[in-house]
Parts: sequence; C-alpha cells; structure tokens
Amino acid sequence: MTNILCIGAGYVGGSTMPIIASHCPEHRIVIVDINENRIAAWQSDQLPIYEPGLDEIVRQTRGKNLFFSTEVDRHISEADIIFVSVNTPTKMFGKGAGKAADLQYWEKTARQILENSTSSKIVVEKSTLPVRTAEAMERILNSNGNGLHFDVLSNPEFLAEGTAVRDMQNPDRVLIGGRETESGRKAVEALVELYATWVPRDRIITANLWSSELSKLVANAFLAQRISSINAISALCEKTEADVNEVAHAIGRDARIGRYFLRASVGFGGSCFKKDILNLVYLCEHYGLPEVARYWEQVVAMNEYQEARFASNMVASMFNTIAGKRIALFGAAFKANTNDTRESPALEVCRALLEEHADVVITDPHAMENASHDLGELAKHVTFEHDPYIAANHAHAIAILTEWSQYTQLDYERIYNSMVKPAFIFDGRNLLDHKKLYEMGFNVYPIGKPPLTRLITSTHA
Ligand code: NAD
Ligand code: UGA
Repeated sequence: MTNILCIGAGYVGGSTMPIIASHCPEHRIVIVDINENRIAAWQSDQLPIYEPGLDEIVRQTRGKNLFFSTEVDRHISEADIIFVSVNTPTKMFGKGAGKAADLQYWEKTARQILENSTSSKIVVEKSTLPVRTAEAMERILNSNGNGLHFDVLSNPEFLAEGTAVRDMQNPDRVLIGGRETESGRKAVEALVELYATWVPRDRIITANLWSSELSKLVANAFLAQRISSINAISALCEKTEADVNEVAHAIGRDARIGRYFLRASVGFGGSCFKKDILNLVYLCEHYGLPEVARYWEQVVAMNEYQEARFASNMVASMFNTIAGKRIALFGAAFKANTNDTRESPALEVCRALLEEHADVVITDPHAMENASHDLGELAKHVTFEHDPYIAANHAHAIAILTEWSQYTQLDYERIYNSMVKPAFIFDGRNLLDHKKLYEMGFNVYPIGKPPLTRLITSTHA
C-alpha cells in the first residue's frame, strides 16, 4: 500500500484523486485543504464542485480508500507520495503584479512538507507553475539537514472542467517530468506505475522537469490562441456576411488545422487560460524575449476585445441605451457543465451592462452561488432567478452566455410572448436555431454571422 496525499481539495485535487482512488483500491488516498468548509462539503452529499459523474465516484471510494481532512501536518508525515494542487493565481502585488504567478500558497506548502516530514518522499507538482519552479521546491525541501531526500516531479493536469471525469479516465496523455538522476528516474517510474493502472503506457509521456512544466503553460496558450484566432475572425465575419461557423468548419477539415477549439464565442473564461498566458508572457519578459511576450499577450487582449465587443454590440443594437431595461443573462458559468464562474465572460458582460444601468437578471442551472460571490458588491444590483422563463419575463433582451444544453430545449415562443417588444436575443455561444427565433419575431444577434433583424438600425455597419 502507498499512502498518497493531495494538498488542495479544489477542482483539480477534488476531481483527480477520487479517480486514482477508484482505480487503485490498494492505495490509501487523503485529500487535505486548509478550507474547512470545502472539506466539509467533500464529506457531505453536496460536493463543492459540480462535475458530471464525480458524485458517484466519490460515493464509491469515500471512507474506503479516499479520505478528506483538514489535518494537513499529520497527513504529510504519513505520506509516501504528495501531490500538490493548491491554487497558483496571478500575482496582484509587487514585482510581476498582474502577470506572474503568485507562488505564496505553493511555497507555504513546500515549507509545511519540510516541517512535517520524517521520511523521504516524492513530491508531485500538479498545480500549473512557472517553468523551473521544481528547482525552488527541490532547494527548499532538500535543505532539511536530517538526511531526508525529496524527489520533485512535474505532473501537470490537462483535464477540462465539465469533462474532468472523462478526461481523467481516458486522458490523451499523462505527462511526467523528472530529474535524470537515479532517484529521479525511480520516482518517475513510481508515478508511471500508478497511472499505468488504467492509462495505456503509450499515453504516459516522460520528459525533463522543465519541458513538463513549460508544456502545461504552452498547451493552455495554444488552446486559448485558437479561440482568440476564431473570435478575431468572427468580428470580420460580422462585417462581411461570412458565417464564422462555416469558416471554422471549412478550415477545420484541414487535418493540419483540426476541428477542435474553433467555436467562436463571447470569449474564453475559466481560472487558467488568462492566468497561464500572462504567466507565459511574464516568463518571456523575464528571460529577455519581449517580442515573444507581446505575441502571446495578444491572445488575452483579443479575448478582452471579444467580451467588450459583445457587450457594446448589445447596447448599440438596443438603440444605444439599455438604462432601466431588463436583460436576462442565460448562463453565468464560464462553460457548460460546471458551477465555476472564475473569469467567466458572462460576468464580464454583466459588469459592462450594469455600467450602462441595465436591470440585469442572471439565470444558471448550477453557478448562481459562485456568480453572486464573484460579482462581489455588484451582486446587489443583479437579480438571480433559477427559472429562465421568469428571468426572461418582461425582458427587452436575452443573452446566451453559457452553452448549457438546457437552453436549447426552452419554449422560445413562450419566452418571446412574455418579453417587451422588439425582443432581442444575443447568442454569445451560437447555441440556438437563429432562423427559427427570427421567424418567431426575435431580433437575433449571433457571433460571427449577420444579425437576423427587422430593425433598420444596423450595429454592424
Ligand atoms: P482551487 O482554487 O479550486 O483549489 C485549490 C485549493 O488549494 C483551495 O481549496 C485552497 O484552499 C487549497 N490550498 C491553498 N493553499 C493550501 C495549503 N497551504 N494547504 C492546503 N490547501 C491549500 O484551484 P484548482 O482549480 O483546483 O487549481 C489548482 C491548480 O491546478 C492551479 O495551479 C491550476 O492552474 C491548475 N489546474 C486547474 C485546472 C482546472 O480545471 N481548474 C486544470 C488543470 C490545472
Ligand atoms: C482548459 C483546458 O482545456 C484544459 O486542458 C486545462 O487543463 C485547463 O484549461 C486548465 O489548465 O485549467 P477549461 O478551462 O476547464 O480547460 O475549459 P475549456 O474547455 O478549455 O474552455 C475554456 C474556455 O474556452 C471556456 O470559456 C469555453 O467556453 C471557451 N471555448 C472553448 C470557446 O469559446 N470555444 C471553443 O472552441 C472552446
């Protein structure tokens, strides 16, 4: 039996470890966190994150070989392998503010491991970190002076929220970076063996530590770059009567380009894309590569442009004033099938509409609590409504901001009849049947396609 510990019971720790537990019943897995409420929620029937399929796996493993705890120190001392999946947000102060990764939680964890260890251990970076962080981690851990040895590995996580269970059960690849020393190779092999319980060996890639750390930032930067690229083209489509879906389909059929991650949208959100790209930008600046930094920075700038463009198109289409107008936002989560609202474009649009004094109503099947929390003070000025029909009642406009499949099933005829006329739909996810909505009487504004409107005012001229 191996004692596995995961520090950080967030989206990553909380969705990866139950799956390891389910595949490796012979190992004991403990997930610890300093956040008592989070741990209590993991121990309850109401898990702190909404992730399809996860409840069942947690129910099957919890109390058998999967445990949740706030006793970080005690569990560190018992562990053989420690995964660290604490948060690594963008630093908001001092040198690198607004771009660099804030490593305070990370470093605290390293020191805590050091203080509570009485045996040698493998420490695995699961959080997304700047390249060469493992070096600092190794220095801290191996400064113990009592003969303990720590091998630090990089094992970045590539799962996406909403499909975390599927991604972890059947990953495209597992990446493990380690040192080219004898004990480094042994540590890598131990982790390979753990994953090989359910992941085919040819999908387990090993690399040097720095390649592994950097690959995680680069993977997110490339994914986000594709979205910014198609979103940039969506703006041009709106001017030229080209249809961005048709363009994406046409280019995606080229195997060299590929069809994934070409869905034009109101913008990408989530806790990682922006933070990881800014971190990459900071690293490039740090290493004296300003041209490379500017190149990647543009991916984030394009995303901010897309969000702002969406909100200002709404205002312009609604006769340049939305003050006092009820506007229903369908979706607050940054994507479907998650309750996560971190960096959600829906909340960016909400903020922009509130600035114009709109009367904003938000509806979302799972993310209202987080939306209210993330909006902070502004939440006071927003109505939260579970029922989308009530949210749309007497509204001048609806904006589809999260691609929840529920929103394709609604009775839009009923919604149209309950709205103020002219009624507007701004589809920030190109989710709905626009022609049908137009025939019902809606003025329809998709992303990257000509609007379907009977109004003379054109916002896209
Ligand atoms: P999260 O904020 O949901 O969870 C992190 C948890 O760590 C929090 O519950 C926090 O209380 C806990 N924590 C912080 N310091 C601690 C300490 N000293 N001891 C114990 N617990 C501590 O974050 P997340 O979304 O799970 O992301 C974690 C890391 O994984 C980040 O580096 C992120 O970039 C990366 N990542 C996230 C995703 C994702 O989909 N969310 C995917 C891949 C990688
Ligand atoms: C992303 C990556 O896909 C994961 O591989 C990575 O592990 C993770 O970041 C991370 O490091 O946190 P995630 O942010 O959970 O996962 O979700 P994605 O499916 O990548 O979507 C991100 C955003 O892009 C969402 O707002 C989504 O709606 C948007 N998106 C995605 C588009 O607008 N168009 C697309 O074609 C795809």
